[in-house]
Amino acid sequence: MCGIVGFTGSQDAGPLLLEGLKRLEYRGYDSAGIAVQSGGVIRAAKASGHLRNLCEQTHDGADLPGVCGIGHTRWATHGAPTVTNAHPHLSDDGVFAVVHNGIIENYAELREELQGRGFVFHSETDTEVVVHLLDCYYKGDLKAAVMKTVSRLNGSYALGVVCADHPGELIAVKSASPLILGVGVGESFFASDVTALVGHTRNVIYLEDGEFASLTPDRITVFDCAGREINKTISRVVWDVEAAEKGGYEHFMLKEIMEQPRALKAAIEPRIKDGRIVLDGVELTAEQLRNIRRVVITACGSAYHAGCVGRYIMEELCRIPVEAEVASELRYRNPLIGQDTLVIVISQSGETADTIAALKECKARGARTLAIVNVVGSTVAKLADDVLYTWAGPEIAVATTKGYTTQVAVLSLLSVYMARKLERIGEERFGELVKGICSLPERCQRAIDLNTHVGYLAKRYHNNSSLFFIGRNLDYAACLEASLKLKEISYIHSEAYAAGELKHGTIALIDEGRLVVALCCYEALFDKLVSNIKEVKARGAKVLAVAQEGNRHIFAEADDVLFAPAIDPLLVPITEIVPLQLFAYYVAKENGCDIDKPKNLAKSVTVE
Ligand code: F6R
Repeated sequence: MCGIVGFTGSQDAGPLLLEGLKRLEYRGYDSAGIAVQSGGVIRAAKASGHLRNLCEQTHDGADLPGVCGIGHTRWATHGAPTVTNAHPHLSDDGVFAVVHNGIIENYAELREELQGRGFVFHSETDTEVVVHLLDCYYKGDLKAAVMKTVSRLNGSYALGVVCADHPGELIAVKSASPLILGVGVGESFFASDVTALVGHTRNVIYLEDGEFASLTPDRITVFDCAGREINKTISRVVWDVEAAEKGGYEHFMLKEIMEQPRALKAAIEPRIKDGRIVLDGVELTAEQLRNIRRVVITACGSAYHAGCVGRYIMEELCRIPVEAEVASELRYRNPLIGQDTLVIVISQSGETADTIAALKECKARGARTLAIVNVVGSTVAKLADDVLYTWAGPEIAVATTKGYTTQVAVLSLLSVYMARKLERIGEERFGELVKGICSLPERCQRAIDLNTHVGYLAKRYHNNSSLFFIGRNLDYAACLEASLKLKEISYIHSEAYAAGELKHGTIALIDEGRLVVALCCYEALFDKLVSNIKEVKARGAKVLAVAQEGNRHIFAEADDVLFAPAIDPLLVPITEIVPLQLFAYYVAKENGCDIDKPKNLAKSVTVE
């Protein structure tokens, strides 16, 4: 949601800012703008809709000369996605331009106050108060004006500021919204995430909440909220620009599906040493684990679905009560969470507003918190007591694929690790599970190779207006993700149903030709699932089954079959989701959808 970039150096800023915004497109946006400072003047250009409109309007940035500027892609919250509401917002005297990601919660009262002082508002945005506050407090000392402005703001904000009186200087401010600084040679950058930086530098500084920075081409100075200069570590981003490009694939989503074997390898391999599981720096002793009465897994969207899979695996292996709950519910529920609760927070981006809030709530109640996160240095990673990174590499497509499977893989590792420490599983079962987890990269590749006919099935079924995914136990947990994947990129209504629940009402919707996707890889309940298949077929449904490779019985039951390679029963969701990710992808493609950037969605949901 909303992307911010800033550049100061000796190259033309306009084209660089547009290129940075292009790399942030995946976050979701509906308008864009840039502002470039030169010769004591700030020039800005904004356009609604696709970024290409802004590129055309500015001749790829050439119309805005200058070597220092800021840019923004806006995902509308306060006010429609119009040019007026697009960022940057400029002060009336043209001295300041501001871009913002987040929400200024007290904007209404600030707006009223500023209007009382004679400031005229042009947009409906919350952001505009920031530029007027800067204008109001600026008496020649930029740092002082920034500090005074920030002290008036409540809410979440990453801000980028240029001031016409300070040539070549950018200001970056971070509070509860992501902002990363890029350290180049004779040039400096900021951006909402590293994908916009890695083409120029892999040396980055992660700002903490409450910090702000002054960037010039040769120097980055970071201050705490009291204005004291602080020393920051420069971190090196481990992946390069190719990881954030399509690499010959038509869509990022397809590339990321295909990358899953590699991503799983990166998540798993370094954590298995001489047949033991080593969880980075996370120390969970047998005694600490014995004191845990309950595990609560919390997250949003697909990350929550990974948590639902984790719940089945962890409870089965550890024999501790495990719950999974969406973060937006948990945070407002006065939950029974205390020192005897282990809270596992899952997030690909590490910046999801509800997940962060739930994590803070659980910490405040004394729980030990462990985060499973992909983005290094993200807010969730910083807030949690312990972090297990998924090492999936950059995920650009809005619909997560490798993010999800690596989350489930890390949850599986954690569950097996805990179960062995608690002595709930013996050496033999431990060995089997470790072997199963280690085989996931190769099994995932097999899942891709086995389903070359998935595009053909998508052609057959893409016209369905509404469909059901059914399964039991871990198959059901996988249904949740399969259904979301399909609906979010193809806009086809679908529901995930525990197969045994169907006849308690929903079976009324099964009629002639309705597609039911039946996940039957959890073999212990295969016969039960077959009964459910028979029930829906008897009412005219078409059944597309997902079954384990080698299961011959399924041909007698289903109209069509996708295959997942055989694996330990507890790991089936990771292999069976792969053909269903592909199915969702090809159905969306058949329907001509914007696969990498589905309508109304943002990659990183930084507002609640
Ligand atoms: C769906 C999807 C979303 C995210 C959710 C949480 O494909 O990607 O449902 O899973 O918005 O995002 P993170 O994992 O970044 O917290």
